[in-house]
Amino acid sequence: MPETGVSRHQLLIDGKWVDPVDGAHIDTHDPSTGQKLAELAAAGPWDVDLAVQSARRAFDDGLWRRMPAEARARLLHRFADLIEEHADELASIDTRDCGKPYAFIRNVDLPNMADLVRYMAGWATKLEGRTIPLSRQDPTAYLSYTRRQPVGVVAQVIPWNGAVLAATWKLAPALAAGCTVVLKPAELASLGPLRLAELAVEAGLPDGVVNVITGTGADAGAPLVAHPQVDKVAFTGSVETGKGIVAAAAQNLTKLTLELGGKSPAVIYDDADLDLAVDGALAAVLYAQGEACTAGSRLYVQRPVHDEVLSRIEAAVPKLRLGESSDPDVVVGPLVSERQRSKVISFVDGAVGDGAEVIAGGATARDPGYFLEPTVLGGVHDQMTVAREEIFGPVVSVMAFDDEAEVIRRANDTTFGLAAGVWTTNVARAHRFANAVNAGAVWVNCYNVFDAALPFGGFKRSGWGKEMGEEALDGYLQSKAVTLAIS
Ligand code: NAI
Ligand code: MG
Repeated sequence: MPETGVSRHQLLIDGKWVDPVDGAHIDTHDPSTGQKLAELAAAGPWDVDLAVQSARRAFDDGLWRRMPAEARARLLHRFADLIEEHADELASIDTRDCGKPYAFIRNVDLPNMADLVRYMAGWATKLEGRTIPLSRQDPTAYLSYTRRQPVGVVAQVIPWNGAVLAATWKLAPALAAGCTVVLKPAELASLGPLRLAELAVEAGLPDGVVNVITGTGADAGAPLVAHPQVDKVAFTGSVETGKGIVAAAAQNLTKLTLELGGKSPAVIYDDADLDLAVDGALAAVLYAQGEACTAGSRLYVQRPVHDEVLSRIEAAVPKLRLGESSDPDVVVGPLVSERQRSKVISFVDGAVGDGAEVIAGGATARDPGYFLEPTVLGGVHDQMTVAREEIFGPVVSVMAFDDEAEVIRRANDTTFGLAAGVWTTNVARAHRFANAVNAGAVWVNCYNVFDAALPFGGFKRSGWGKEMGEEALDGYLQSKAVTLAIS
C-alpha cells in the first residue's frame, strides 16, 4: 500500500483503471519540497500493447470515428465544461507535480485548455473536403472529391513542463478529428494528465478512445512509438529524444509531428518603451522559471539602451517572488528535479568558464526544493554554449547589438526556430523583424501570448507540424481523393 497521503495510480486502458501487468510503480515528487507525492504505474511493453490494442479496437469498431460529428462535438464541449469545473483542482495537481507556479497554470493554461477543447469541438462539424474538376477530362464525365478522414490510432508523448496544457494541446485536435489516442505523459508530471483523462471518461468518451500509459521513456514511451499498430506519433520534448522517436517511427514509416526545443531571441530596440520591454523580456525567459520551450533565453539589446536595460533587469530580478509553486503570488517556482537544476547550473558554470559574468542571481535558493535564483549573464558571445543550447531554466544572456541587419542575422544564427520577441515603437521595423526572423511564433511588444485559434509550432529543428489553430488538425487527418465516372 502507498504511504499515507501518497496516492497510487493506475493506467487507463479501454475505459478502465488497471494496474500494470507486472505491478511496478515509480515515485513522483513535489519539486517545491522534494517530498514524495504519488506512486505512478510503471507501464512496460505489455501494458503498451494492451493500450494500443484498446485504441485500435476503438478506432476500428467505428463507434467514435462514425459517430455523427455533432455528437462528437457535444462530448468535447462536455469535456471542456468539466475542465472548467475542475480548473482549481487540475491546476493544483499540476502545480505540485511539475513546480510551475499555480497562478500561471490556473490563469493561463486552464482557460486556454477549455478554449482549445471548445475550438476543436467546433471543427468536428467542419472537416470538409472539396470537389475538384479534373483538368484533362470532360468536366461532366467525372465527379472527384476529397474527404478528410482521421489518421487512426495516435501515440502522444508529452513532457513535464505544463503537463495538463501539453496533454490538452495533443488530445483536443486528435479527438475532434476522430482519432483514438494512447497518451504517455512524462514520469515527472503524470498526475495532471491522469486526472484530465479521468474527466474525458466522465464526459462520456467511448471506452478506448483515450488511453493513458504512465512510466518511463525507455519502458513505456519507446515501445509505444515503435508499435506497428500506431498510425501516428505526436511528440513534445527534447531534441535528443525527438531524434530517437524519428528513428523509431522510421521503422514503420509512422506519421509524425514534433514540438521540440528552442533558443528563442528577444530583441529590444533603442526606440522601445523600456518599461514594457524590460518586463516583457524578463517574463519571456522566466515564465515557468524558464522551463518553457519558448523561453527567450537570448536577449539582444540595442547598444544605446543596453546598460540602462541591464541595470533595470538587475534591479528587477531580486524582486520577483520565488517560492513554493502552490503559493498563488509566486512567479518563480522550483525546477522540476534536482537533475534539471544541476543541468541548468552547469550551463551557468560553463558560461562563466567561457568568460561570461553573472550579473544577478546564479545561486541555489531555499531548501528543500529544487530552486535556482533567476540568473542574468553578461559578457556572453554568440558562440558560447549558453547562447546556443536550450537551457530550460531561469537563465538569460544579455547581449548588445548595433543595427537591424546584425540583430536579425544573430537572431537567426541558431538551429532552432520556435519563437522570437521584439520590442520597438517603430511599426515598420517590427514588421521587418517579424518577416525576417525564422521562428514559428513572433511576438511584438508582448511574449508568450497563446490562443486556441493560433497555430503554434517551430521552424527548423524546433519541430514538424503545428499545435492549436486549424492547422493542428492537419496532423490528425488525411485526405482521400475519390473519383467517380458518371457518364
Ligand atoms: P524528454 O524529451 O526525454 O521527455 C519527454 C517525454 O518523452 C517524456 O514523456 C519521456 O518519458 C518520453 N521519452 C523519453 N525517452 C523516450 C523514448 N526513447 N521513446 C519515447 N518516449 C520517450 O525530456 P526529459 O528527459 O524530461 O528532459 C531532458 C531535457 O530536455 C530537459 O533537461 C530539458 O532541457 C529538455 N526538455 C525540453 C522540452 C521542450 O518542450 N522543449 C520539454 C522537456 C524537456
Ligand atoms: Mg512530479
